[in-house]
Amino acid sequence: MKILFFGDINGPSGLRYFEQNIIRIKNELKADLLIVNAENSGPDGRGITKEAYETFVEHGVDCLTMGNWTYGHPDFFELMDYNIIKPINILGPGKGYLKFTIQGETLLVTNLVGNLYMGDVKDYNKQVIATSNAFEAANELLTKEKYDYALIDFHAEVTGEKIALAYYLGDKVDVIVGTHTHVQTADERLLSTGCLFISDVGMCGAQESIIGAGIEGAINNLTSPLKKPKISATGKALLSYVLIDLKPRVIRRFLEYEK
Ligand SMILES: [Fe+2]
Repeated sequence: MKILFFGDINGPSGLRYFEQNIIRIKNELKADLLIVNAENSGPDGRGITKEAYETFVEHGVDCLTMGNWTYGHPDFFELMDYNIIKPINILGPGKGYLKFTIQGETLLVTNLVGNLYMGDVKDYNKQVIATSNAFEAANELLTKEKYDYALIDFHAEVTGEKIALAYYLGDKVDVIVGTHTHVQTADERLLSTGCLFISDVGMCGAQESIIGAGIEGAINNLTSPLKKPKISATGKALLSYVLIDLKPRVIRRFLEYEK
């Protein structure tokens, strides 16, 4: 079973470059399942819109995962009955996992948000949404559900929290792909527990940016007491993704820059 997983699609540049390349990548890598983290795919990098969702579906995406910006755009509430999952430990509307049957085997896909240095999870009205402990939520789900393989998109800031989850869950989990930092890490490997792991897949978004956001606005917010809303940068993009093969257990990372 081969799974293609794309890190956070960030704003219009990320979505455009994904759209322009996904058919080629699918043809080259021949994956059975395509999963995309879409929590930043809206026009300002917050949440998902109906338009972005349609683009993903038209290009063969099987499953969308989210993160701390799950409720960053109101369109999520119209989409949440489809093939979108949100972190199971965000205590709000939406599904926390989905199961896919491929060649007679079941893959459970779930999504978690980290508990360290993440700030509050807020909706588009800046209302705070409660979260629970990621480790306990994952353990509870994987203990009660039946599956052949389990994949977790762990949307979290801290690398140590992500690797700790892998060892905590042991052989209950087959793949942990980290998302959220927007920077691809070079630590992809097979752990002794049998889990394929990468701390962060990285983003799909503008190259000239501060992890996807416009440079001027991001610097303003680090230097001025007068904060401005972050806007996604535009221009040439990059794509960050991984190919996971469950037989044999191999994870391979890719980082492509638009020329
Ligand atoms: Fe995030």
